[in-house]
Amino acid sequence: MNKTSTISLPHSSDLIRARRSVRSFEKRTPEAAVVEQLLDYGKSIKNPFGIPVEFRVLHAAQHGLLCPVTNGTELYAGSKIAVQPFANAAFGYSFEVFLLYAQSLGLGSVWLGGTMNRSAFEQAMELRENEMMPCAAPIGYPAKRMTVRETAMRKAIKADERLPFEALFFDSGFTKPLTPEKAGVLRLPLEAVRLAPSAVNKQPWRVVLADGCAYFYLLRSKGFARSGVLDMQMIDMGIALCHFALCAAECGLALEFVQLDPAPDSEEVEYVGSYRIS
Ligand SMILES: Cc1cc2nc3c(=O)[nH]c(=O)nc-3n(C[C@H](O)[C@H](O)[C@H](O)COP(=O)(O)O)c2cc1C
Repeated sequence: MNKTSTISLPHSSDLIRARRSVRSFEKRTPEAAVVEQLLDYGKSIKNPFGIPVEFRVLHAAQHGLLCPVTNGTELYAGSKIAVQPFANAAFGYSFEVFLLYAQSLGLGSVWLGGTMNRSAFEQAMELRENEMMPCAAPIGYPAKRMTVRETAMRKAIKADERLPFEALFFDSGFTKPLTPEKAGVLRLPLEAVRLAPSAVNKQPWRVVLADGCAYFYLLRSKGFARSGVLDMQMIDMGIALCHFALCAAECGLALEFVQLDPAPDSEEVEYVGSYRIS
């Protein structure tokens, strides 16, 4: 696979820096025109895997949708994708673009992979054979203050923390940690990867810079099992690829997405793909 990455979203590095999961919402429902704008934008989203993702906005009461960790909003973004190789990564990429665009409209959200009544969401998305709905997200205007439960949850997951730059990114191979100074023009895109949301904040992405390429690898967390076709950490990887591409575009860098075969691999990590940078 060999694809030029042409993604752009105005002010994406600001959006990525300001982003956080929102679980407490104002009672005010997002206006129909805002929802329409978001869904229109959703139709234009592409990912480097070339797999289409369909987005819908769902009303909780209409479909019996429940999420025990959020409160205040009635609306959810749902989406679905055809099951195929790299569908989880493609989904992660496209849904993150969708949620960052929602953020640019003033809407907050949180990725939901586990804390919802999944079967009701899947029914609402009218999944056909060979389709899956990996995640959903409430959308609404963020409340001025987080609930006590949300604050406690963030603390338990250490949601505000990230691994050091040097623990995530490497120079030429996994034995040589990359410093932010050494990353040069790729410092900002890599910082954007570091700030990405991930399931239970596990941050499973690792990137090696070599030969003008950024090689993306998945370091799976222990005890983080895949469930059938769903692969949360591969979704995390798609989000990381999205953050990198958005910020690289903002920095004026041209990217080409490639999946090398055979990939420069290491035993503990899984190669997913690379950006060739020019
Ligand atoms: C694929 C994925 C699945 C997630 N699933 C849930 C979930 O089911 N419930 C939840 O409250 N948060 C969920 N999260 C949000 C993460 O806990 C959150 O992104 C992480 O703790 C970092 O916090 P931040 O987003 O505020 O930076 C999920 C995030 C991702 C990327």
